[in-house]
Amino acid sequence: MRIDILTLFPEMFAAVLGTSIPKRAAEKGLVEYRFTNIRDFATDAHKSVDDKPFGGGPGMVMMCQTVFDAVESTEKQDPREATRILLTPQGKPFNQAMAEDFASRDRLLLIAGHYEGFDERISQGLKPIEVSIGDYVLSGGELAAMVVIDAVVRLLPGALGAEDGAADETFADGLIEYPQYTRPREFRGMGVPDILLSGNHAAIAKWRQEQRESRTKDRRPDLWETYLKKRQDQA
Ligand code: 6GU
Repeated sequence: MRIDILTLFPEMFAAVLGTSIPKRAAEKGLVEYRFTNIRDFATDAHKSVDDKPFGGGPGMVMMCQTVFDAVESTEKQDPREATRILLTPQGKPFNQAMAEDFASRDRLLLIAGHYEGFDERISQGLKPIEVSIGDYVLSGGELAAMVVIDAVVRLLPGALGAEDGAADETFADGLIEYPQYTRPREFRGMGVPDILLSGNHAAIAKWRQEQRESRTKDRRPDLWETYLKKRQDQA
């Protein structure tokens, strides 16, 4: 997979893509990260990428020309068709199903903006998939792009070592994870559920599934509703 990242701040990505699974995936040749600095496509003396909103109001708006030119120039570097993704709080909420969809593509192009927002004609003309990572406001799309990249790259076949293999259980079937414990057996007066020390693998599996269900019901009633509906549809 090739991932193109269009941003005004490529330096923000170094720590995330240069650490842990995103780094190892690149070293293994599963993914290649390429940066395009949107400012390189500015045409005026000030290297402007944003301007005041028509109609007035606070903040600045990312201009069409620099973003269109950055996208078109980047796409020409490789014949594979890019799946265009625009990071914006107005987008569709990102989830595991979207991560799995993106992981099946061979080229992603992520557009991360800064400032108050994008000129609407960027969406209209480039027809990207618009993605948000949650209902809160970030200063720019870069952190959101990193979230998407991390969630996608860890799904690429071979990205996870055997030791992190099970870490994908949460959301794979719509339930959150069961509680985990490691040594010591007692810490500051807090113990470990006896069943986990029993060696009875069937009983442990049953307990874990019950924990996943009760915790989802309790903490994420929204996910629980979806899970119940899916189970009814399958029955
Ligand atoms: Cl994708 N961008 C920004 N600026 N803020 C966000 C977001 C994206 N997702 C949640 N908040």
